[in-house]
Amino acid sequence: MEEDLGGVPPELRNRLGPRLEIIHGELHRLKTIVERFLRLASPTALDPEQIQLDRIVGQVCELMRPEAESRGVELRVKLETLPEFMADPVRLMQALLNLVINALQAVANGGWIEIRTSRRGEKVWLQVADNGPGIAPEKLGSIFEPYFTTKQEGHGLGLWIAQQIIAAHLGTLEAGNREGGGAVFTVTLPLTAGEK
Ligand SMILES: Nc1ncnc2c1ncn2[C@@H]1O[C@H](COP(=O)(O)OP(=O)(O)OP(=O)(O)O)[C@@H](O)[C@H]1O
Ligand SMILES: [Mg+2]
Repeated sequence: MEEDLGGVPPELRNRLGPRLEIIHGELHRLKTIVERFLRLASPTALDPEQIQLDRIVGQVCELMRPEAESRGVELRVKLETLPEFMADPVRLMQALLNLVINALQAVANGGWIEIRTSRRGEKVWLQVADNGPGIAPEKLGSIFEPYFTTKQEGHGLGLWIAQQIIAAHLGTLEAGNREGGGAVFTVTLPLTAGEK
């Protein structure tokens, strides 16, 4: 359209020119947004290295502890000694952060969040539990869908992204409710996660 603009009467050209420029600029902006989004969500972008899961959990806690404290939420950690394994530490941290942020948003003042790890055969197992309201049974099937949210300010992307990241490591992420109330998210990762 910009190329054809030379052939139209000046009056029309002067009106269309600035509009086309706006379209051009907006297309560029949208392209950047989509590219950034795809990079964020892309499971193919794994950059694996030897990791210690307890260090990643430690970093997540360090990041979240001030916010937890200011909300009067106890952040508990129960870690088993785990072998090192190949995984993408940045992406795993992103996944774990999304789970902990959700837990923090769910529990009320005086609540708690517990992160546990252990080894189950050739798999590493990680759980984030909280004593918030839990997840309504009819919503359990939807929470991993992109854009599913029950929050006014939510995007509904945190769990979807977390699941994409775990799946890219050939692991699983499952949601459930604790018997005593509250939600529990369970991650399993094969010890050969990033070796493909
Ligand atoms: N620990 C939890 N306790 C109760 N409900 C939860 C918990 N974690 C997730 N949910 C439910 O799952 C929904 C989807 O979570 P998800 O992290 O994908 O999106 P979100 O937190 O709403 O928005 P955001 O994109 O900012 O993360 C939440 O809106 C909430 O209803
Ligand atoms: Mg979230």
